Amino acid sequence: MDYGFFDDASREYVITRPDTPLPWLNYLGEDDFFGLCTNTGGGYTFWKDARLRRLTRYRYNNIPLDSGGRYLYVNDGGSVWNPGWKPVKAKLDRYECRVGLGYERITGEKDGLEIDLTFFIPQGRNEELWKVRVTNKSKVRKTPKLFSFQEFCFYEALNDMTNYQRTWSIGEVEVESGAIYHKTEYRERRNHYALFACTRPVAGFDTDRDAFVGVHEGLHEARAPFAGRCTNSKAFGWNPVGAHEVDLDLEPGASEDFAFVLAYVDQGEAPKFERPGVIDKSKGREVLARWSRPGAVDAALAELRAFWDGLLANFQAELPDADANRMLNVWNQYQCMATFNLSRAASLYETGIGRGMGFRDSNQDILGFVHMIPGRARERILDIAATQLSDGTCFHQYQPLTKKGNAEVGGDFYDDHLWLVLSTCAYVKETGDASILEEPVGYADRDYAKGPDGRRRHADGTPAESLLDHLETSVAYTMKKRGPHGLPLIGHADWNDCLNLNCFSKEPNESFQCAGDVAGSKAESVMIAGLFLKAAAEMSGLYAFLQRPVAAKRMEAARAEMLAAVESQAWDGEWYRRAYDAEGRPVGSRDCDEGRIFIESQAWCALGGAGADDATDAEGRPAASRGRARKALESVHRELYTEEGIVLQQPAYTRYRLELGEVSSYPPGVKENAGIFCHNNTWIHLALCELGEGDRALEYYRSICPSAKQAKIETYRSEPYVYAQMVAGRDAPCFGEAKNSWLTGTAAWTFVALSQGILGVKPDYEGLRVDPCIARSWKGFKATRRFRGATYEIEVRNPQGASKGVKRVLIDGDELGPAKAEAGKGVVLPLFPAGSAHRVVVELGD
Ligand code: BGC
Repeated sequence: MDYGFFDDASREYVITRPDTPLPWLNYLGEDDFFGLCTNTGGGYTFWKDARLRRLTRYRYNNIPLDSGGRYLYVNDGGSVWNPGWKPVKAKLDRYECRVGLGYERITGEKDGLEIDLTFFIPQGRNEELWKVRVTNKSKVRKTPKLFSFQEFCFYEALNDMTNYQRTWSIGEVEVESGAIYHKTEYRERRNHYALFACTRPVAGFDTDRDAFVGVHEGLHEARAPFAGRCTNSKAFGWNPVGAHEVDLDLEPGASEDFAFVLAYVDQGEAPKFERPGVIDKSKGREVLARWSRPGAVDAALAELRAFWDGLLANFQAELPDADANRMLNVWNQYQCMATFNLSRAASLYETGIGRGMGFRDSNQDILGFVHMIPGRARERILDIAATQLSDGTCFHQYQPLTKKGNAEVGGDFYDDHLWLVLSTCAYVKETGDASILEEPVGYADRDYAKGPDGRRRHADGTPAESLLDHLETSVAYTMKKRGPHGLPLIGHADWNDCLNLNCFSKEPNESFQCAGDVAGSKAESVMIAGLFLKAAAEMSGLYAFLQRPVAAKRMEAARAEMLAAVESQAWDGEWYRRAYDAEGRPVGSRDCDEGRIFIESQAWCALGGAGADDATDAEGRPAASRGRARKALESVHRELYTEEGIVLQQPAYTRYRLELGEVSSYPPGVKENAGIFCHNNTWIHLALCELGEGDRALEYYRSICPSAKQAKIETYRSEPYVYAQMVAGRDAPCFGEAKNSWLTGTAAWTFVALSQGILGVKPDYEGLRVDPCIARSWKGFKATRRFRGATYEIEVRNPQGASKGVKRVLIDGDELGPAKAEAGKGVVLPLFPAGSAHRVVVELGD
């Protein structure tokens, strides 16, 4: 079955039938104001924080799955339908949903009436627009009535869906000329309200849900649209909604354009009330006036499209692989914006209530975002760092609105702090801005005052600890927190949230991660060891850039100590072990009956430089560890690779193992229990690129590339335009089915793997490094990269069918001297003045 296609020229995915295998999602907004919008208009809108400032309601896991959202009903001479098919689900003569960058354009046509509906959030505004064009394509005059509808949320989403003894008595609205002001709780501590209005005159409105929908009716049979009129109801308590009736009169061929506006209006310090009980609406009126001006809505949409064109121009490539090409150029970068903004908070799998911003998640998200808007990445790094505690551990999650760590989840995930090193170094490499390291960030468990310059200070006036202090604390913490094998302790878990080696959860009503005390725990993680190797190497590179050779050496020494522990304690013969449990037994070893080999430790040990092809011992002789990385990756291929991607471990756990935690709680083949976690597939892609395995890197990439799944979409089910966190592994009955699309570390890491690993275009401190590792069959590729203000138009040629190895480099026609090319690491292109453009030809070969 075909559900759609990529319109590459328009940078849109076109969904051609509404009954997709799962609801397919898109996001509106990319700054402070966001909407989730499915291909039938489902979803909701919030300001900054999906839990604390939710404007409209959505009932997750509803029946059907995606019901509720931005609905427009049409009553055309008694025939009632929706252009987005839902909720009435009347058969349409034509349906199309164009998934665009920051907008969703849904067109529905029935009996000669066409409704073209575009949802988007204009740049820099706290407003969502529903741009509507109604066209009478028939040969007779038509007088359709349109009904807008959405349900207001009482801002705090958890309270909104749990505390009806209160919420059913607090709902309040005001209506002025059909503009609906949702002012629940405005009388007390809130100084913000929501406005839902239409840019053209309306024939009526409803604000009481029971009046518009009915008490016993569902949205598919809502009373007002079927009756053909709104009742001008005023909500008092219960459930306030926003609904308008628009009556049109269209001659054959005639169209009418208008828009609905949903706004979040913050009164700030302005007086809240016009007169007792009546809110000051001046800001709301301004918003409505702005969008009522002819051309304003179209101009805002054009501005949004131009914004994305500009942003994507920072990195564009022409690859011989159409799937990789469109993912890299458009959809992957678009997804990176969503993960940067929303971490793992609000998708169809995350309710916006459970999790805020994840410490490790957000640091990784920055890796795929920093090239787009480095200034925002800078701010985010500082926010995240401020949730680290002075001993080095971190709040695992924090709320975006308050920027405060989530005390319920707490910390003690002993990988968290190391990701901060990776994000910070990526930022400095991208921008050359080392000043971020001096920013006084401070720790979450200390009190600071703000100095006259707005910066955090200790009581004695000295600046709070800097970001660089945080990085040092992070490295020191891992070195300090090591177990009997000299490997890092794991705490509650490492990247694999479900490998809980210290928690021993026996009670169904306790959390796997947080049960028990990790204080005296002995369980160790090889994955953290590998990550540490990488982080310490990054720190040493950073210090070299800062011209602090002593500190760089100190980092190298720490790295060497960890490397020795990895090579002597973690090698299993064919691969690296995954961990040691609390009793010191290996996890991920040939001696285990299940869970013999895990993906994460192979990837991170290799990326951290363990088992290198040129490893030497202290005397400079070939070390016993030489070639282990290659061997480990060969084991990954043999034991874990499938045509749908690499499974996380094998054999899957078939029963619950108290000593391993949540990982064994999942049925075989899903999630961390041998599912295909796309996120960590990308680490293997990168490791393969380090070793020059370009053919395999591309083959592996294609195995998880959503664009390449279109032919098997009935099995894959999720959106073909964004990566999913997980695809069911071969142990599952639904092998190949994707879940948890959109908000996943896969987004950032695939961008890194493809752009920096396979294409080899890597920001570095002194310039832009180019070190491709491509499939031998590729004759070359082109990439345009904006870096520190200059544009590099790179053409890579591969006349000899090589995978790796830079033979020759021409910059603007001049040969680059051999001094610039480092053996095995490609070439570092020099920095150029901002605004200049340069043609670079890179020839691969021996
Ligand atoms: C979490 C990540 C974690 C991953 C693997 C995701 O759901 O957001 O933090 O690393 O699962 O367990």
